[in-house]
Amino acid sequence: MNIGVIGTGYVGLVAGACLAESGNDVWCVDSDAAKIEKLKAGAIPIYEPGLPEIVERNLREERLTFTTDLDAAVKKSFVIFVAVGTPPAPDGAADLTAVFQVAAAIGRAMDRYKVIVVKSTVPVGTSEKIREILKKETDQPFDLLSNPEFLKQGAAVEDFMKPDRIVVGADDVRAAEILRDLYAPFVRTGSPVLLVDVRTAELLKYAANAFLAARISFMNEIANLCETVGANVDMVRKALASDSRIGPAFLFPGVGFGGSCFPKDIKALIDTGRKHKYGMQILEAVDAVNQGQAARFVEKIRKHFEGNLRDKRLAVWGLSFKPRTNDMRDAPSIKIIESLLADGAAVAAYDPEATDEAKRIFDGRIQLSSSNYGCLEGADALLIVTEWQAFRKPNFERIKGMMRQPVLFDGRNIYDPAQLRQLGFTYYSVGRA
Ligand SMILES: NC(=O)c1ccc[n+]([C@@H]2O[C@H](COP(=O)([O-])OP(=O)(O)OC[C@H]3O[C@@H](n4cnc5c(N)ncnc54)[C@H](O)[C@@H]3O)[C@@H](O)[C@H]2O)c1
Repeated sequence: MNIGVIGTGYVGLVAGACLAESGNDVWCVDSDAAKIEKLKAGAIPIYEPGLPEIVERNLREERLTFTTDLDAAVKKSFVIFVAVGTPPAPDGAADLTAVFQVAAAIGRAMDRYKVIVVKSTVPVGTSEKIREILKKETDQPFDLLSNPEFLKQGAAVEDFMKPDRIVVGADDVRAAEILRDLYAPFVRTGSPVLLVDVRTAELLKYAANAFLAARISFMNEIANLCETVGANVDMVRKALASDSRIGPAFLFPGVGFGGSCFPKDIKALIDTGRKHKYGMQILEAVDAVNQGQAARFVEKIRKHFEGNLRDKRLAVWGLSFKPRTNDMRDAPSIKIIESLLADGAAVAAYDPEATDEAKRIFDGRIQLSSSNYGCLEGADALLIVTEWQAFRKPNFERIKGMMRQPVLFDGRNIYDPAQLRQLGFTYYSVGRA
């Protein structure tokens, strides 16, 4: 099948590459000409395990084309996915500017029947607005489907290739069948394809993210209480995780969730409620707990140094919003480092994949190392902010030998408190009194 994917970010690039991998001819479009030039040369602008190999193979076998020419891509394609960003507007609503621009451009380019699929995460009712925009721009027939994406950055290729489920929001069953057919290679092991109406599809994507975020904020709140009353969140978490009604996922306390989805999607869902005069009380609390979590971590650091960070040198391990991605959008590391810099601390940091992003964000205000040990020389404390696998079993003697004082703030609970204390560290973590 000939397919167009508009927007080659984390979602569009993975979707386009994986659809090409299953034999389709895919035109990936982006308005960012520099990104398209890189992609044409086989350079992947994001860190996503497994993606370079698939892009390289499908470029070589000429099933994947990168272009800025949306008009040509639409004309060549039968199914067109919209995968542009929907970032937060200042009031928390989803900014739909790019989605609407792309809808109008698709409409203008249409020369015959097309199936248009909204993959971007959009608030309830957006597809109806897109339909109106398309109708204004074209007399050609089309079907409009909603197909929210559930992939996780860091495991995006695997998630796209083996999804837990595919959701197709459609008001026309025949059009939905086209998408079911396209996804058939990915659901051979029996994952369901859920056919729902368009509004339900739009809403359920937000519900999924909001629920996962709620689990994290819930655990953070319990961890904070553990610290206050002298209990151990590790054991609380294990007890909850082994309860078959609860399950183990998304129960790790830490410095709060970040990334390009949870924070913005919660705010957008709260905004949807507000617009329909329904107060999303649980989500307001999820957001509030999350906002406070990074600040609480910084407070521990301040307290240890008796409120004076002015002459302190702090080493930070992990900058991306989670491991296995270079994405720093809304990463807790930014809030934490900005607070420490405002207090006058000097910060040296290391991240396996997010150094370029960090250079752009901090613009020379922090030192960036090319290895995890590289940022430790003379440090007054080491902060674990993102739990990359390579940080889990470091050489603690080497760490201690490089630091001015062996103080460790573990924002992800990756070390054993008893072991760290035995090694001579002053060790702080989250919810483990
Ligand atoms: N990142 C995730 O893990 C994830 C998971 C599921 C759903 N989503 C949703 O998918 C959507 C895309 O997310 P993302 O993380 O891939 O975003 P992204 O910012 O990484 O990518 C968006 C791309 O769209 C391009 N673009 C913007 N305006 C354009 C236009 N007018 N024409 C052509 N291209 C244009 C940008 O240049 C960029 O390359 C969002 O709605 C997001 O909420 C994201």
